[in-house]
Amino acid sequence: KKVVLAYSGGLDSSTIVKWLQTELGAEVATFTADLGQGEEVEPARHKAITLGVKPEYAFVEDVREEFVRDYVFPMFRANTVYEGQYLLGTSIARPLIAKKQIEIARRIGADAVAHGATGKGNDQVRFEIAYYALEPDIHVVAPWREWDFKSREALLDFAEKHQIPITKDKRNEAPFSVDANLLHSSSEGKVLEDPGVEAPEYVHMRTISPEAAPDTPTVFTMDFENGDPVAIDGQKLSPAALLTKLNQLGHDNGVGRLDLVENRYVGMKSRGVYETPGGTILLHAHRGMESITLDRGAMHLKDELMPKYASLIYNGFWFAPEREMLQAAIDLSQKNVTGQVRVKLYKGSVTVIGRTSPYSLYDQELVTFEEGKVAYDHRDAAGFIKLNALRLRVAAKRDRRG
Ligand code: ARG
Ligand code: SIN
Repeated sequence: KKVVLAYSGGLDSSTIVKWLQTELGAEVATFTADLGQGEEVEPARHKAITLGVKPEYAFVEDVREEFVRDYVFPMFRANTVYEGQYLLGTSIARPLIAKKQIEIARRIGADAVAHGATGKGNDQVRFEIAYYALEPDIHVVAPWREWDFKSREALLDFAEKHQIPITKDKRNEAPFSVDANLLHSSSEGKVLEDPGVEAPEYVHMRTISPEAAPDTPTVFTMDFENGDPVAIDGQKLSPAALLTKLNQLGHDNGVGRLDLVENRYVGMKSRGVYETPGGTILLHAHRGMESITLDRGAMHLKDELMPKYASLIYNGFWFAPEREMLQAAIDLSQKNVTGQVRVKLYKGSVTVIGRTSPYSLYDQELVTFEEGKVAYDHRDAAGFIKLNALRLRVAAKRDRRG
């Protein structure tokens, strides 16, 4: 058996390497993606090799541009939020990691893939649905569902026995579980498990608090082309560089914090603390750009489709035909979402304070309260209103008859 593991380099995923080797007798290949989590991938590669992974089987790849261009930006074209608030920072990264694992498995002739998600969460679903969608006969190993360590202690003893270094505080357990990439950081569990209790400040890792943010606002422009951001203050940037820059602006102004209780696909409610500084700015800015360039019918239909699209991503159906159908419709709507917005950040808030576009549908002549020159006859509105009210008048008369 040859298995390609999604490997972070951390204690848990290193323990999984040893478990796959010793308990399953598998040859292990590791894949570590640089998704912008802020940790170097080279140390993970070295660590894998010290665990007995062949050097040519310790794979690392910088996927930041692909992540932002082909996953994050397409999702933001739909203004996607799950349950009204969550910007899906973890959900959107899983299909890319799964795809890379499958590509490696094909290259080295592996018959299995593995991940380090638990049996209680969404991530197992996302990884595995993506694996099966791309490689229908692949074997999946999910150690967290399969090994029989009865406690964290037992797992750490196993790690120790196999010379995996354990820092002292790991014995007292990490304070919470973290997932991070260029789009967001997420924290769950431990000190966050009681949803009635406020998250401690130290949980936050990529934003200052709004209270600590500067007393003067930060104002800048963002250029959009076909629904995607392409420049900040006139400077053209690659997708990953642009999101990195937005993250910095958001960080400095306390933008993008979210404390949420959400419904997991597997049925339970869970509490998470999210930080999505750049994504929060992008969501507001994109809506600002759409506000002058999208037709009302297109905009409202997009807004109706969005919760469905969000659930597909949250539940792990990125590679499903209905997600691709929705994406085609969303992308078509973005044909004229081109122009510039001016954004103001201030103590955690994001405000669009200006928008311009060569494709604007906004007609000042039409909307002005002053006498306009455009063909709009006030008298037309009377009949329009009367016909819209007709059925309500009929109903009101019936009710009056009693
Ligand atoms: N609840 C989020 C989701 O399902 C994040 C899950 C991973 N986060 C973590 N801290 N382990 O997308
Ligand atoms: C996990 O269970 O591995 C993390 C949380 C989740 O996937 O929802």
